[in-house]
Amino acid sequence: MAETLRKEAEMKAKALKKTGEIPVKIIVLSGKGGVGKSITTANLALAFSKLGYRGKVAILDGDIHGPSIPMYLGIDNKQLGAEGDKIFPVEGPMGIKVVSASYFLPKQELPIIWRGPLKVKFIRDMLASVEWGETRILLIDTPPGTGDEIQGITQYVNRMSGAVVVTAPSDASLNVVKRAITFLKIVKVPLLGIIENFSFVRCPSGEEKRIMGDGGRKVEEALGGKIIASIPYDPLLANPITEIGNPYEVEDLRGDPAARAFISAAKMILEEMNGGKID
Ligand SMILES: Nc1ncnc2c1ncn2[C@@H]1O[C@H](COP(=O)(O)OP(=O)(O)OP(=O)(O)O)[C@@H](O)[C@H]1O
Ligand SMILES: [Mg+2]
Repeated sequence: MAETLRKEAEMKAKALKKTGEIPVKIIVLSGKGGVGKSITTANLALAFSKLGYRGKVAILDGDIHGPSIPMYLGIDNKQLGAEGDKIFPVEGPMGIKVVSASYFLPKQELPIIWRGPLKVKFIRDMLASVEWGETRILLIDTPPGTGDEIQGITQYVNRMSGAVVVTAPSDASLNVVKRAITFLKIVKVPLLGIIENFSFVRCPSGEEKRIMGDGGRKVEEALGGKIIASIPYDPLLANPITEIGNPYEVEDLRGDPAARAFISAAKMILEEMNGGKID
């Protein structure tokens, strides 16, 4: 028992020390499933890389049951490195470092049957063991809800800088996302901004149709925050980046509206963090 407690304290101290060395840590959550948390996390990481932090951005995929970051970034066939008790992240497009439970699963189609305490330990051990190198911005993707994994993340990440909340404009989404906002207040993590996903569809005529609801001010009022991006339906976000070509690698973003929206959201977050500059 004493040994277990000693080990627990040691891993917690390590996790807090390591995350304390990264100046910006952003949790992406919504409470609601399938609204675009993981796509937002992946695209914000690409956007920060484009904005001058190439090679200094990392993602911890905190979704243990449905890890999807490696797939969205086209790096699900790679492997983590390990040396003694150190773990080295997989390197993705634009030098983004990724750690995900998906790299620990022998077969993608097997369900992951992990009890709560084990999930929290997994998050803790990742945070204690991963060598993040030059990372200045760590984005953390989360599963739907505000369960074990999120509790673990808020417990073992040293001074979370803030949260980005993702929602669809529908009432069904807003009602669930409100719970996530309340959770943030309880754990005292500031809300950096709201990403409104599935905001509109651009018709061949050029007209923008809001098929899920009006959104906009209604979303801001319901959630008590500012929308920092309205993301349209976009094929870019429905396929792995490696299959469609990375628009963030192109100077003018290929005119892609979703990529442009994520770039402007990333700029606003940087502004809010530290007047736009991170040491
Ligand atoms: N704006 C968009 N346009 C087109 N497809 C999108 C858009 N946003 C997300 N998607 C697609 O919708 C699906 C759900 O997105 P995503 O996995 O990011 O949601 P999530 O909130 O992380 O889901 P979960 O709660 O299961 O983790 C994915 O297939 C993704 O590619
Ligand atoms: Mg997800």
